[in-house]
Amino acid sequence: MTIKKLEELISELGGLDLLILSSGIGDLNETLDFEIERKVIDLNVTGFTNITDWVFNNYEKQGFGHLVAISSVAGIRGSRQAPSYNATKSYQINYLEGLRQKSTKSKKPIFVTDIRPGLVDTKMAKGEGLFWVMPVDKVARQIFKAIKKRRKVVYVTRRWGLISRLLKILPRFIYDRM
Ligand SMILES: NC(=O)c1ccc[n+]([C@@H]2O[C@H](COP(=O)([O-])OP(=O)(O)OC[C@H]3O[C@@H](n4cnc5c(N)ncnc54)[C@H](OP(=O)(O)O)[C@@H]3O)[C@@H](O)[C@H]2O)c1
Repeated sequence: MTIKKLEELISELGGLDLLILSSGIGDLNETLDFEIERKVIDLNVTGFTNITDWVFNNYEKQGFGHLVAISSVAGIRGSRQAPSYNATKSYQINYLEGLRQKSTKSKKPIFVTDIRPGLVDTKMAKGEGLFWVMPVDKVARQIFKAIKKRRKVVYVTRRWGLISRLLKILPRFIYDRM
């Protein structure tokens, strides 16, 4: 159904050279309610894969194109508060890397951009003790710039890039206690 709509849209537009996939949900789920997790997986993994595969194959056929997806800094490590959100964002990061490798091998001008924002001031930003929540217009400007430059991976903002680097190297015995 989603793909049919996408096909209709592209036919109306007369072609596709850039697709920005921003859809995504996440919820706090400390009780591990599977219904919450299922919904997150349905959109962030199944829906995401359905769209990115279709777009990538389409670009391969036409010989060019740019796929942009909004993953998240959340994909760097797991979360006790929103386990499926972080895990599905990690899936997206990994999947996009796979597609980027595929595009490089194909030697066609197909670009894959993975945008990894930190906390942004939308209804998605939930939980206690949120910090460095960024205004939407600032984030949108930085995403726009990254798309124009066809960046491969970009953290928004640079400050969140630093947090990501710290998260990556933080020893497990410390992270497990957070
Ligand atoms: N806000 C943050 O702190 C933050 C941080 C890092 C990454 N991100 C990522 O940024 C992206 C955009 O999120 P946001 O912050 O703009 O949150 P948002 O305002 O809640 O937007 C969520 C988007 O997902 C769409 N969506 C929700 N359920 C859907 C479904 N079942 N099928 C198709 N589309 C659906 C919504 O469409 P409708 O408007 O039609 O409902 C909306 O466009 C997400 O991928 C999110 O994970 C957000």
